[in-house]
Amino acid sequence: MTSTLPARARCFSGIQPSGAVHIGNDLGAIRNYVALQDRFESIYCIVDFHALTSTHDPEAMRQRTREMAAALLALGLDPARCTLFVQSHRPEVTELMWLFTTVTPVGWLQRTPTYKEKRANQPDDLNHGLLTYPVLQAADIVLYKASVVPVGKDQAAHLELSREIVRAFNSRYGETFPEPQAVYTEAPVVLGTDGVKKMSKSVGNTIPVFAPEDEIRRTIMGMVTDTLRIRRTDPGHPERCNVCQLHRFYGDDYEEIWEGERTARTGCVDTKKLLAERLLRHYAPARERYAELMAHPATLDAILEEGADRLKPIVDATMAEVRAKMGLR
Ligand code: AMP
Ligand code: TRP
Repeated sequence: MTSTLPARARCFSGIQPSGAVHIGNDLGAIRNYVALQDRFESIYCIVDFHALTSTHDPEAMRQRTREMAAALLALGLDPARCTLFVQSHRPEVTELMWLFTTVTPVGWLQRTPTYKEKRANQPDDLNHGLLTYPVLQAADIVLYKASVVPVGKDQAAHLELSREIVRAFNSRYGETFPEPQAVYTEAPVVLGTDGVKKMSKSVGNTIPVFAPEDEIRRTIMGMVTDTLRIRRTDPGHPERCNVCQLHRFYGDDYEEIWEGERTARTGCVDTKKLLAERLLRHYAPARERYAELMAHPATLDAILEEGADRLKPIVDATMAEVRAKMGLR
């Protein structure tokens, strides 16, 4: 999917520091962050400004920002091959966001699916940030003139809006920004433990990557499997079973596992136990690195500071160009 993109393109993605990283984040997005850091000039951002639209606890914010940095580094981001930073450490993005709000019709924002969802689920805290959220996201990406954006499929509407905002700006002030393009993994939508809804922190159906082992085992053993398979001796339907689907990403022999289910040679409990073992084995090195990184908060902070410093020349150049084009300097 990325083969048609120019090799010199810049890659950017953002992730909220809003709690424990789950396998949906990894399979849907973070695996691509890691893969793309060698193909493009890659910039990854922990978007604390965005998280403020739903987290209002300063201590939690600080802690989760560090946890997210440790998680991304543990899963394979390498500060020597990409830039990792915290959104608020390069606050110029809020200026660009403001400028973008002036080319963005309110109707576009009111129609955004995530905004409508928040309006339904968070009615007591329907802050303005929730409405403007996609404008800040557009600014995030194009402040660095990035055009490659690895995300999960749930971000498709946001990315489309980013493209529209860029087009609106370019058509009013002249060609300035490339249109960002979403890049998906082999698992653009990972379902949760209920086997029905998208895996998501807000639904509470996640399999966390860095939780204690027994919690991960318990979570997997509690997963909903093939609802058509009532008795152990009934044949299974791997294409309908999220546990079977997840096996694709944690071993090469998943077709054999599926065959075991189809012929009722294996039961759902066996398949879940095996998934728990494989998943823990797969993440063991990352889990070790995570513990090590969390034990050294000063090192983490230094990596994030250095990341933000490195970006200053790019940001200054973009903002000078934009201010000039808009008649501000
Ligand atoms: P979030 O946790 O919502 O900040 O998401 C961080 C990244 O993970 C975004 O690129 C999402 O699109 C991606 N993501 C989150 N949940 C899933 C999921 N269930 N399946 C695939 N990708 C996901
Ligand atoms: N909205 C994204 C999410 O919830 C996070 C995000 C913020 C982002 N800025 C971005 C993603 C820029 C990609 C590019 O997951």
